[in-house]
Amino acid sequence: MGVSRSISSFMFLIFLILSSNVFKWSVLVEATTAARFTFRGFKGNQTEIQTEGASTIQRDNDLLRLTDRNHNVTGTAFYRKPIRLRDYTNSSNFKVCSFSSSFVFVIIPSSPGNGGFGFTFTLSPTPNRPGAESAQYLGLLNRYNDGNQSNHVFALEFDTVQGFKDGADRRGNHIGLNFNSLSSDVQEPLIYYETADRKEDFQLDSGEPIRVNLDYDGSSKTFNVTIYPTRLGFKPKKPMISGRVLELSGIVEEEMYVGFTAATGKDQSSAHFVMGWSFASCGEKPVADWLDLSQLPSPPPNTSLRNKKGYASRVIALIVALSIVTVVLLVLLFVFVMYKRKIQEEEILEDWEIDYPHRFKYRDLYLATKRFKESEIIGTGGFGIVYKGNLSSSGPIAVKKITSNSSQGVREFVAEIESLGRLGHKNLVNLQGWCKHKNELLLIYDYIPNGSLDSLLYRRNGVVLPWDVRFEIIKGIASGLLYLHEEWEQIVIHRDVKASNVLIDEDMNAKLGDFGLARLYERGTLSQTTKVVGTLGYMAPELTRNGRGSTASDVFAFGVLVLEIVCGHRPTNTENFFLADWVMEFHTNGGILSAVDQKLGSSFNGREARLVLAVGLLCCHHKPKTRPSMRMVLRYLNGEEDVPLIDEDWGLSDSSRDELRMNVVGYVSSDRASTSNTFSSFSGVSSSSVVSGR
Ligand SMILES: *[C@@H]1O[C@H](CO)[C@@H](O)[C@H](O)[C@H]1NC(C)=O
Ligand SMILES: *[C@@H]1O[C@H](CO)[C@@H](O)[C@H](O)[C@H]1NC(C)=O
Ligand SMILES: *[C@@H]1O[C@H](CO)[C@@H](O)[C@H](O)[C@H]1NC(C)=O
Ligand SMILES: *[C@@H]1O[C@H](CO)[C@@H](O)[C@H](O)[C@H]1NC(C)=O
Ligand SMILES: *[C@@H]1O[C@H](CO)[C@@H](O)[C@H](O)[C@H]1NC(C)=O
Ligand SMILES: *[C@@H]1O[C@H](CO)[C@@H](O)[C@H](O)[C@H]1NC(C)=O
Repeated sequence: MGVSRSISSFMFLIFLILSSNVFKWSVLVEATTAARFTFRGFKGNQTEIQTEGASTIQRDNDLLRLTDRNHNVTGTAFYRKPIRLRDYTNSSNFKVCSFSSSFVFVIIPSSPGNGGFGFTFTLSPTPNRPGAESAQYLGLLNRYNDGNQSNHVFALEFDTVQGFKDGADRRGNHIGLNFNSLSSDVQEPLIYYETADRKEDFQLDSGEPIRVNLDYDGSSKTFNVTIYPTRLGFKPKKPMISGRVLELSGIVEEEMYVGFTAATGKDQSSAHFVMGWSFASCGEKPVADWLDLSQLPSPPPNTSLRNKKGYASRVIALIVALSIVTVVLLVLLFVFVMYKRKIQEEEILEDWEIDYPHRFKYRDLYLATKRFKESEIIGTGGFGIVYKGNLSSSGPIAVKKITSNSSQGVREFVAEIESLGRLGHKNLVNLQGWCKHKNELLLIYDYIPNGSLDSLLYRRNGVVLPWDVRFEIIKGIASGLLYLHEEWEQIVIHRDVKASNVLIDEDMNAKLGDFGLARLYERGTLSQTTKVVGTLGYMAPELTRNGRGSTASDVFAFGVLVLEIVCGHRPTNTENFFLADWVMEFHTNGGILSAVDQKLGSSFNGREARLVLAVGLLCCHHKPKTRPSMRMVLRYLNGEEDVPLIDEDWGLSDSSRDELRMNVVGYVSSDRASTSNTFSSFSGVSSSSVVSGR
């Protein structure tokens, strides 16, 4: 067992030795065979080229970039496979194989005249140059190994900075042949031969593609270098450098790597590019493949216009611009966010914003009413103070200022305003628009010049409203109410029909005001508690019990108002006086015309007066169902229908009158009528709008 194991181990060892010998031999055979490769651009050749340092194969333009224009960098790029350049065929003393190479390069300096430092075509024992330094060492050697015979380095240098040893940074433009050192053995300024004896010089770092052909003949040990701008279109017949080089045999090792090194300096820098590269070695007169420019990638853009400072300042400018843009964007973002937030805040109010009626600007109203000056007040009603205003655009207006206590109330209020805004009738005060300011709501109405009916009826300057005016006013109020009750798209209950809510225009037409507001008030949108709205004396008896306004309660108030207009008496002005009862007494006594306003004397139409008083009484019936509709009222007034007789059950018991009074606990505010003292107030209750708590 032990013996067989050791035998098999032995056999395996033999095999290993044999196979490694075979391997060595095969490498030898392969390496002596001629090498040849061609790169027309370097697309997809990342594995064939070993790049280090700043070198790279650029994926965007398929160029081999040896260095970029950063300062103090080195880069190397070698063909990955080693090349055998020793030829042992004739004797044990080898000779260096012939070889040929061609490449097209471009050097783009950071600014014209400020390029550096250059590059080399190199034969090196390693596929990289460890320890090589930048600047004048060209990524090939360093200050310690420069010139050391153990380097085994041959380089053809393309130097754009003059003065290697003295460290000077003069501009250079030469090529040199270097053996183990950066001190060139052969150094030639850059020219090409246009003809055999006419030479042209040109710049290595002009940014244009430059072609290099180099040929070494192993037998004659001659080395030819031809270098010329590709723009020439022909290959110069005469090489720029042509001569014997004996040093190569001392340099070339068993295996050599072929490639490029490049470097930039502390102050000068260029980008070094190789557009294409071909190589051939050994055999009879090897010739590297011709690199047709049309088959190579485009040369890199000539960006050397940007000088170094310009480049830096461009970068700075870019950074500054980006910073500014960022700051501006941030500011914009901030403003946008704030704006958005503000919009959102406003949207709480504005999503219900309405197109009609018109929304006024608070500032305009503020100026129109002389800053809501007290002297501009033309009325104080149940819902707010009314100011006279003068808008430069639309003339005189009446502005009703209502203070709300919650934005929720405001929202509903405005919804209501929208429907009010669509109401339009010649006997209704026209609502022009509205405005919201903080928790104030402003309603803008047409300004009605003659003021309220109330003030006209009880004027103390002796001017008496003539009968036919009164009759027309009654009819006007009736048709206004009819419109609200029946003719508009929905039933609107006025709830506060009274003399002070009837405005008289310049043609003595009646216009009902303050319609629609009571509903809001009652719904609690303007205050949190349920309120009964109405004015004492005009309030229908059922209103004090159930608090619910109806068309019938409007009719009752209208009836009282009719009697008031005819009689020139306030609806109630002492504890025991009720206008309707008072007129009823004349009616039952058969002398109803005695109820007509004394101030009219005999200048009134008796038939009309009877008619109107009968209608008024009919409307004041204590049973809501028995009261006529506004449509019927108008028919009676127009004589189209006879007024029915008033039934026995017309009146109220004294107890219900008392009840009416008991339920009324306070008043909200006085209206303009309260400024005249034609009525005696009874304990805090005036004949103005009353809101009673229930
Ligand atoms: C370079 O890469 C291309 C595409 O992969 C390939 O066809 C070509 O043979 C390569 N060149 C060399 C010299 O390996
Ligand atoms: C250049 O770079 C090398 C290493 O990358 C560094 O050691 C050297 O000091 C640099 N030289 C200059 C002049 O910046
Ligand atoms: C070998 O070398 C001798 C003398 O140096 C020469 O005459 C002969 O041609 C060479 N043979 C080959 C195959 O190169
Ligand atoms: C040359 O390099 C070798 C190996 O790096 C070193 O041993 C030798 O001392 C160097 N010679 C000189 C003159 O620097
Ligand atoms: C590149 O730009 C430099 C600077 O303007 C100019 O001198 C040079 O001729 C240009 N080279 C090419 C090939 O356009
Ligand atoms: C080098 O150039 C000379 C003259 O132009 C020519 O005779 C010689 O054959 C060339 N050598 C090679 C290796 O191309």
